[in-house]
Amino acid sequence: MKVFTKIKELQEYLADQKHPIGFVPTMGALHQGHLSLLEHSKKDNQTTVVSIFVNPVQFNDKNDFDKYPRLLDDDLNLLETYNCDVVFAPSVDEMYPEPPKESYDFGYLDKILEGAYRPGHFNGVAIVVNRLFHIVKPDRAYFGKKDYQQYIIIKELVKQQNLPIEIIAVPIVREASGLAMSSRNLRLGENELQVAPEIYKALTLAKNLSRNKSINEVKQAVIDHLRRFPDFRIEYVEIVNAENLKPINDWDEGNPIILIATWLGDVRLIDNMELF
Ligand code: PAJ
Repeated sequence: MKVFTKIKELQEYLADQKHPIGFVPTMGALHQGHLSLLEHSKKDNQTTVVSIFVNPVQFNDKNDFDKYPRLLDDDLNLLETYNCDVVFAPSVDEMYPEPPKESYDFGYLDKILEGAYRPGHFNGVAIVVNRLFHIVKPDRAYFGKKDYQQYIIIKELVKQQNLPIEIIAVPIVREASGLAMSSRNLRLGENELQVAPEIYKALTLAKNLSRNKSINEVKQAVIDHLRRFPDFRIEYVEIVNAENLKPINDWDEGNPIILIATWLGDVRLIDNMELF
């Protein structure tokens, strides 16, 4: 496994590697969710590149950035075990020699859900992912459905920028408890870890009730379920069309997906489930 911190050295090395190249962008503190993306890429491609970069410009909350877990040595060991070919782990100065000024407009897509609660977040994601795409020049890039809105926005980014990259979505990997794996779970305390799987239970409840109840009734049942656990501070529970994230009023209006964001202590958790 080759590890690079400099753009130029990575690019010189990749120039001689076999295509297709698969790319898995991450912020590290790797878990089975990330490794599932790596495995999909290894299956589809000749060469797989994983990037590890805690991207400062996508954090709208300084506390979240400061507390984001950084475990580079463990990550590299894990990636080596999983036969990753190439790792790119640049410094902030390498990615941003100057403060980045790019501004993206995804219209409706970055105003709703996460976009409404995390101003600037998706612009920061688009800045780093577009830069990484230009550095790595992959044929395919892998994104988890855990961050469903991010996946939709990256597809839109590739369309807007006309990039010859296929975007592949990978299913959510969960703990045995149902809790969606996330690097931020490392920050949950013992009691919070007991409560966190209730998010999955609420999503499953929605799936079981869908079609038999109205969309509003299902949303209310999910909110009622979560409210039984006072440690949650819900930001949103929404049921939208999975293709374009537009609200739906009827089950037949599109492929419905339910998305939840909630605080648990000082950790913000997101999860979602396709209902059909
Ligand atoms: P990060 O949160 O590290 O996630 C990297 C990738 O792993 C994302 O595509 C995310 O959706 C996926 N992922 C995380 N948890 C997952 C799970 N439980 N199951 C399946 N996939 C999962 O997302 C980011 O980093 C950043 O925004 C990034 C795209 C790297 C840009 O900085």
